[in-house]
Amino acid sequence: MSRIAYVNGWFGPLEEARVSVLDRGFLFADGIYEVSAVLDGRLIDNDAHLARLQRSVGEIDLPLPETLPRIKEIQKQLIAQNDLVDGLVYIQVTRGAAERDFVFPKGVKPTLVMFTMVKDIVNAAAAKTGIAVKTVPDIRWARRDIKSVALLAQVLAKQAAAEAGCQEAWMIEDGAVTEGGSSSAFILTQDDVLVTRQNSNSILPGCTRKAVMALAEERQIRIEERPFTVAEALAAKEAFITSASSFVQPVVKLDGQTIASGTPGPIARRLREIYVEFARATAD
Ligand code: PDD
Repeated sequence: MSRIAYVNGWFGPLEEARVSVLDRGFLFADGIYEVSAVLDGRLIDNDAHLARLQRSVGEIDLPLPETLPRIKEIQKQLIAQNDLVDGLVYIQVTRGAAERDFVFPKGVKPTLVMFTMVKDIVNAAAAKTGIAVKTVPDIRWARRDIKSVALLAQVLAKQAAAEAGCQEAWMIEDGAVTEGGSSSAFILTQDDVLVTRQNSNSILPGCTRKAVMALAEERQIRIEERPFTVAEALAAKEAFITSASSFVQPVVKLDGQTIASGTPGPIARRLREIYVEFARATAD
């Protein structure tokens, strides 16, 4: 049985899902996306993802073709139609198909595409072993707070990481880590302070980052929101990444050097457990 996808009101087999070659997502990367996790057939922290979708489209003056409640309904329909237990729901909205012209087209309906992916995030092997990260220069544009489909810099960053045998890239700007290729970056210092860069135009405001920080705070873990350097990360007690597609994943190696003992640290492991509990308890 093939996967069922959604395109502009149509539900059908993913192989038959089509958008025009004139779609502005294809021609200009003129679009926004979101990724929500699914556990036991239910959406994780999804309202935060939909709120960020709304903010992102607003920042580029792109009207959503459907209301957020309707988008949530479609997400749930796709989960049901695909019998999705554990995985991800992908949403992409672009400024639609029109004759190629940089200026916004008039009277064109935005394109809304959605599909599901199977992924066992909770039992990912990498959560037990930890992952290796490679640093790369952050060559992205100046509005990284917008979840734009213009992901070429991240494609190149993650490809360079993969070629070096790493599972994620940490992007470096002015000597400090901005964030991961598709995740937020954290370290735990030797004096037990959790450090992650503050939200700004320089990074995507991660939904998982926000939830993990709130959960850590409730447990009296000290947090500092500021940039950190690679040297600080290498001297850290622990490091980890957060994202909808990995939850909390320990980082045990950075540019070939181990962080602490080179095994997942207790705080990263605990925050992962706590996040999974939170995710299940608040799933929708
Ligand atoms: N990426 N930073 C970047 C650059 C990201 O692309 C992502 C998510 C995050 C984490 O955000 P969140 O916790 O809201 O998922 C941070 C998604 C998963 C992706 O591109 O597949």
